[in-house]
This record gives sequence, C-alpha cells and structure tokens, in this order.
Amino acid sequence: MEKKERLDKILSNIGYGSRKDVKKYIKQGSVKVNGKIIKDNSAKINPYDAEIEVDGNMIEYREFIYLMLNKPDGLISSTEDSIHRTVIDLLDEKYISFNPFPVGRLDKDTEGLLVISNDGKLAHNLLSPKKHVDKTYYVKVDGIVNDEDICMMKEGIVLDDGYKTLPAKLEILKSDNISEVYLTIKEGKFHQVKRMFKATGKEVMYLKRIAMGKLKLDDSLLPGQYRELNELEIELLREKINN
Ligand code: URA
Repeated sequence: MEKKERLDKILSNIGYGSRKDVKKYIKQGSVKVNGKIIKDNSAKINPYDAEIEVDGNMIEYREFIYLMLNKPDGLISSTEDSIHRTVIDLLDEKYISFNPFPVGRLDKDTEGLLVISNDGKLAHNLLSPKKHVDKTYYVKVDGIVNDEDICMMKEGIVLDDGYKTLPAKLEILKSDNISEVYLTIKEGKFHQVKRMFKATGKEVMYLKRIAMGKLKLDDSLLPGQYRELNELEIELLREKINN
C-alpha cells in the first residue's frame, strides 16, 4: 500500500499511542519527516517512502506483523479469555498495538507452531477449509501405532460425530506401548488429531504442531518463545504451497 496517510494516523497505527497522544507529540516538535520537524498532525505522508523519526528514533513503518510462536501448554489460542492466559499475553507491547490474533487454534494443552498476525486476508486463506493447507503434528500416542493405522488414516477416519476425515499421512517414528508419529492433516476440525486417534482406539498423550503448509516451526524457539517471520517465510504462507 503506497498511499499517503495522515501523520498522526501513521504513528498511531504503529503503536505510538492514541491519535490524541500522537497529536501532542507532533505539536511539541518530537517528530521529523525527511529530517524536518513537522508540527502539523494532519500532514499527508507516504509512510513507505518518508523517513520518519520520533524523538530521534527512525521508525520502520508496516501495516502487518507476522510472528511465529512455539505455543506452550496451558495457554488459550485466542485474543481474550476471562479465566486463562492467552497466547497474546506473551507478546511484547510493541506488537499488541497491531491488534494481532492467532491464525487458527491449538488446544490449550497442544504445543508448537502458531502464527500470530493482524493480516486477515492471509488468515482467511490459510484457514479456509477449501484450501486444504497441510498441518503436521508430532504426536505421542498411548498404544502401538502400526501399518494398519497408516492405512486407516490414508483412507480417512470416521470421527465420533460421523464425519469422515480427508486422507491424512501418518509416519511412524516409534511403534511401542507409547508410540511416536508425525501426522499430517489437511483440515482443522475441533480436536481433530485427538479424535482421529481415539477412533483407532488410542489416546493422544502429547501433541505439538511442527508445520503449517511449508512453514516449519523454528526448533530453536523454546515453548513460549516467538519471533518475527522472515520475508521468505511470509512468502511461503502467502503462496499456500503444500509440499
Ligand atoms: N488436533 C487436536 O486434537 N488438537 C489441536 O490442538 C490441533 C489438532
């Protein structure tokens, strides 16, 4: 978006406070545009072109933020909750002003990759049931997972409500009393992975999302840690490329 906007709106959008706060800053001469103090809060500026400084600090203007969180156990994937802490509570103040939201949901006890953004169009594309974006989970299962399960998952599993899932890919890492697997699904039904294993007579003990489309969880992020996505990663999400 390369159009001119009011200076007070630009600064307010990127978290310098309300339009009223920002107006005060501007009036007191704290803001420079292309090296010149601007005291007119309604001055029209192209934020992508102009060099804007607030109290001597150059600002980097952007409309959207894209974060990758390694969601920890115990947090809710929503923007607000009256009882529990949400994933948004983990974020630094500088991101909160962008009104970010989690792109999709993980259960409270599920860990792993959660994209947090304020880009509604991207979220819509990733979450639309029609797009069939792959989601890969590392799963610890109570019970022996074997080739029969691979076939069942590939066929599609009938869940407790009668819904038959789309074909899913199961890779067995360890087949034992407690098995370890990767499961890739193309949908996002409520508790889907847990219900798929339940339908095979087994219980999920631990669940962690490790990829969404081509975006992989950065394994240097500990649970609760997050970072901004780089350009390439944002592009991977935009393209919705599935392997
Ligand atoms: N499937 C589940 O059962 N839970 C999640 O959080 C994600 C997928």
